[in-house]
Amino acid sequence: MQHLTETQQFDRESLKRLFALATSLEGKRDESLSGLIMASLFFAPSTRTRLSFESAMYRLGGHVISMENASESSSSTKGETIEDTVRIVDDYADVIVLRHPEVGTAARAAAVSQVPIINAGDGVGQHPTQAFLDLYTIQREIGRTDDFHIAFVGNLAYYRTARSLAYLLAKYENVKMTFVSAPELRMKDDVKDYLKEKNVAFDETEDLEGAMSAADVVYQTRIAEEWIPDHDQYEKLRGKYIITRPMTDHMKDGAILIHPLPRAGEISPEVDDSPHAVYFKQAAYGVLVRMALLKTLLNVK
Ligand code: CP
Repeated sequence: MQHLTETQQFDRESLKRLFALATSLEGKRDESLSGLIMASLFFAPSTRTRLSFESAMYRLGGHVISMENASESSSSTKGETIEDTVRIVDDYADVIVLRHPEVGTAARAAAVSQVPIINAGDGVGQHPTQAFLDLYTIQREIGRTDDFHIAFVGNLAYYRTARSLAYLLAKYENVKMTFVSAPELRMKDDVKDYLKEKNVAFDETEDLEGAMSAADVVYQTRIAEEWIPDHDQYEKLRGKYIITRPMTDHMKDGAILIHPLPRAGEISPEVDDSPHAVYFKQAAYGVLVRMALLKTLLNVK
């Protein structure tokens, strides 16, 4: 049995297999997970992650039991620990997809679970399946996972998907990273220390337009009010790095703009029909990657 709690657990070879499987599943439905049950336990809000996992399970003939608002509707409101919840649910399901507002919850769940735990986001910790679909999008849209320059933009201190992808990209050759943010929202030291240890080139800047014109991939993030404790600070920061159509018009030929979504004003709507904008495709790729992941973790051909 294999859990997925952080991106570092997958190596290049396993990601290559995962992505090949994802591509082979495009437009397909089968019954390979017939008789199997996925429990989705969401203690924090989600549209894409929960519904794409559930869609993936249904497309493979499996079944879903779901708690979409578990922080209010589950027995956690009566004081039940995540460990006890998981000990119960692992008798009801063959795989558990878990989102929780606290960092480390997926690891705590994995420590007691008899079935695979998939981390669907643990607070400001990690969101590994999003990182996988982000990387899959890069592979599909620029045709490579080595030799490119990525600019991460916005809330890099708190945005778990950016953190997860930065960790993941350290496995690839000649990936240069530029972190574009206000000083208050800089990428945290755990990620930067890891990149230094792996000899990954990165720099930090506040110059968004300069970074966008040099990058092959621009990864925009939401400022995310829920993770910034000070409301005045949030109001100050949220208007700072908005991507507009004239800015995308200066991107390199073939460069892409991605975003894990949801967005909240940091990409203007007129960007949507730019040839560089692939964030809606990226969300759609999430179903393929999650189908492939479910098959892999459940060891089904
Ligand atoms: N990208 C992402 O995790 O979206 P949701 O919060 O809607 O699941």
